[in-house]
Amino acid sequence: MSENLNIPITEDREVLYQAIGPQIQALLGYESDEIARMANFCAVLHTALGILWTGFYRLQGEELVLGPFQGPVACSRFSIHQGVCGAAVREDQTIIVEDVDKFPGHIACSSLSKSEIVIPWRDVSGKIKGVLDLDSEKLSDFSVVDQQYLEQLLKTV
Ligand code: SME
Repeated sequence: MSENLNIPITEDREVLYQAIGPQIQALLGYESDEIARMANFCAVLHTALGILWTGFYRLQGEELVLGPFQGPVACSRFSIHQGVCGAAVREDQTIIVEDVDKFPGHIACSSLSKSEIVIPWRDVSGKIKGVLDLDSEKLSDFSVVDQQYLEQLLKTV
């Protein structure tokens, strides 16, 4: 296994996702431990996208509990009735927030966060077992391009 990532110098998300997809598969494919896969998945995405925060929250009853992540210290747990992450669980779908200040109930773990995407993380039967949360310091930093690639990439975790 190579410890070096090959990440193109570009802000074109399609180019970035196409470059990191095979690297994520190679890195995670051999690893049987889920936490190790989650941790390296966050590290690759965070490094490639150059964003503020990349991490998992795991569903435990009615709460979302912090999992592996990259970036500043974050809220360690909150209710599924709160935040963008909670909304993604309750609505059973990916949520893209262009401006977090305009999302009622957004949980500001960092005042630097301006936009966000939250993707449900599912088991093989499709049941939600957590979420992947990406935060950016730029407004409107996430689009359906991120959604499409991240929903596919999450299946490798
Ligand atoms: N902003 C999220 C909370 C998690 S942190 O951003 C890392 C939310 O509103 O659900």
